[in-house]
Amino acid sequence: MSLQGQVALITGGAKNLGAATARELANAGASLALHYNSPSSKNDAAQLESELKQKHPSVKVAFYQADLTTAGAVEKLFQDALKDFGKIDIVVNNVGKVLKKPITEISEKEYDEMFAINSKAAFFILKEAAKHVSDGGKIISVVTALLGAFTGFYTSYAGSKATVEHFTRGVCKELQFRRISVNNVAPGPMDTPFFYPQESPEAVEFHKSNGLGGRLTEVTDIAPIIRFLCTDGGWITGQTLFANGGYTTR
Ligand SMILES: NC(=O)c1ccc[n+]([C@@H]2O[C@H](COP(=O)([O-])OP(=O)(O)OC[C@H]3O[C@@H](n4cnc5c(N)ncnc54)[C@H](OP(=O)(O)O)[C@@H]3O)[C@@H](O)[C@H]2O)c1
Repeated sequence: MSLQGQVALITGGAKNLGAATARELANAGASLALHYNSPSSKNDAAQLESELKQKHPSVKVAFYQADLTTAGAVEKLFQDALKDFGKIDIVVNNVGKVLKKPITEISEKEYDEMFAINSKAAFFILKEAAKHVSDGGKIISVVTALLGAFTGFYTSYAGSKATVEHFTRGVCKELQFRRISVNNVAPGPMDTPFFYPQESPEAVEFHKSNGLGGRLTEVTDIAPIIRFLCTDGGWITGQTLFANGGYTTR
């Protein structure tokens, strides 16, 4: 199925899973409103922009910088994209922050940061998506395989992503009559720079040993699933698709 004529807004869309998703949706013909946050992601944005423009000259691509931890910043991102593209058919919320620590060492500041990005930004992105996505559109949030696992040390990460499953269930019911599907995709430990800083070499080996074929999840395992939800998988709604090579059985 083609996404020709459709507009996709991807948060955290300049690198890693966000960029892989942008490539998948561009291959299917979608125009792309891509967000990034940190100044260091600006280079990734510039490189992705030139790659996409070369490969898909007819696909419109624009980038937007924003820290999305306030409702106002999320609202502005949607307004800016609507001004440039005229509509939004697909929203992929890919922003996230990880912390691996025993709960006894987690400060209030760290808790607030985790929930500001993983829960609050996700909530207001869903709110703006619910207001602005065209009838028949698609809304996808990226969560984590840890929602299907009992494990220590990721309590603030898994807990702050867990809210999104329930936001998604509620919003899917609210948008059912506009034929908008709302889902989550939950990758396993994924081979990107997001994963490594908090993991020891032994932990990396442990995570690998739990995946099909003894490897980590790759962004190229996940981006086609996001594209599927935007195309042939449109009947799926209110769900969390776990894609982790058997890392969790849920
Ligand atoms: N890698 C893994 O092991 C793994 C496993 C399961 C799920 N996930 C989830 O997959 C998604 C993509 O992760 P990734 O591995 O591809 O790493 P990533 O590129 O670092 O993705 C995280 C994104 O969140 C953005 N972000 C962080 N703070 C933000 C803020 N305050 N405002 C707006 N955006 C902010 C980052 O933007 P900047 O870098 O520009 O700040 C970045 O684009 C995340 O939601 C993550 O939780 C990752």
